[in-house]
Amino acid sequence: MKKALITGITGQDGSYLTEFLLAKGYEVHGIIRRASTFNSQRLDHLYRDPHNGDDVRLYLHYGDIGSSGNLSDLIRQVQPDEIYHLAAQSHVRVSFDLPDYTGDVTGLSTVRILEAIRRADSHARFYQASSSEMFGSASPPQHEETPFEPQSPYAAAKLYAYWVTRNYRDGYGLYACNGILFNHESPRRGETFVTRKITRAVAAIVAGRQQHLYLGNLDARRDWGYAPDYVEAMWLMLQQEQAEDFVIGTGEAHSVRELLDEAFGYVGLDWNQYVRIDEKYYRPTEVDYLLADPQKAFARLKWQPRVHFRELVRIMVDADLELAGLAAPGEGRSILEERYDGWHRWQDQVASMEKGTR
Ligand code: NAP
Ligand code: GDD
Repeated sequence: MKKALITGITGQDGSYLTEFLLAKGYEVHGIIRRASTFNSQRLDHLYRDPHNGDDVRLYLHYGDIGSSGNLSDLIRQVQPDEIYHLAAQSHVRVSFDLPDYTGDVTGLSTVRILEAIRRADSHARFYQASSSEMFGSASPPQHEETPFEPQSPYAAAKLYAYWVTRNYRDGYGLYACNGILFNHESPRRGETFVTRKITRAVAAIVAGRQQHLYLGNLDARRDWGYAPDYVEAMWLMLQQEQAEDFVIGTGEAHSVRELLDEAFGYVGLDWNQYVRIDEKYYRPTEVDYLLADPQKAFARLKWQPRVHFRELVRIMVDADLELAGLAAPGEGRSILEERYDGWHRWQDQVASMEKGTR
């Protein structure tokens, strides 16, 4: 049985990756922060109680990637085959308010883990959650050779992590790779990222609980994909003969305005009547246009995104309508089920687990 260790297991990607790896037969270990309230909602449906004699393959360990703390001990104890480093302060706007904290947690944490792997003499393969945000103002489309032009403390921190990952690969021969992932979303997306903020607002407006939605820059363009597709790419990167870096995206970009058209249009509303601009959501420096050129991943990993922009928005609106206690139009759900019918077993599970987490 292969073993994986995941930092950021309670996040959007961590939860999908855990499902994916459990379905592949892995034993999964995750690092979670101690909090005064429950912070493992995205994993609750996966929890098995050893007291009931259940088959337990998911283990959670307390830790914080803000310090080296017990990382080496944990790696020695667990002896993972693969380490996925997903934990981060992942909000770009917040990184302008908390620049040094973001540098520490999003940037320095990577060298803490790489150094722990090295010191523990571990054979683990390492995945670094790098980001398209690192391309910043570089002209689209962006690929593995595009020079980085970071535009935020978050992007600068991710760039440090990117380079130190390459450095440990070149210098110490570690199997360490960067997945340079473009934006990926889902019904489990954090509520303050623009896609989820919009789909939650659509549901609240339909339910009569919200009148206006306050947003920032509507002209920014992003390459938005579906998170469950992207965790498969993470795993594929660690199954190659040699460690390399890969860009992962759909190769299709849309503006926030188009996102509003799609989400409000799906429930028959005109967003112009509801959306207001609040400058507090502007960023001191914005990234205008991110568009992936994922040809390397298509060719080498044989990876392809299965869900595209329109379906993604519908899946998310349906999910938020259901959460708001409303009957969803259902198109997003049926798209999801149809697309995934006959694919890997885990992906069918994802659809039902999405329902289970609501
Ligand atoms: P997310 O939902 O914000 O999850 C972040 C995770 O990191 C959470 O589990 C969080 O724990 C954990 N974390 C934060 N600070 C920590 C600390 N000091 N110690 C331990 N854990 C800590 O992010 P995501 O969307 O899943 O993204 C996963 C990774 O991919 C991140 O590194 C992100 O920057 C990167 N990325 C994301 C995208 C995207 O579009 N989603 C694209 C490119 C790269 P709590 O639950 O306790 O807060
Ligand atoms: N969050 C947010 N809130 N964004 C808004 C808003 C708003 O009210 N109004 C407009 N936007 C614009 C932002 O200015 C940005 O251009 C775009 O919507 C997307 O913002 P986010 O959803 O916050 O995502 P992001 O692109 O900044 O960052 C995400 O993707 C990166 C990969 O490119 C995060 O997941 C990062 O962790 C990830 O690395």
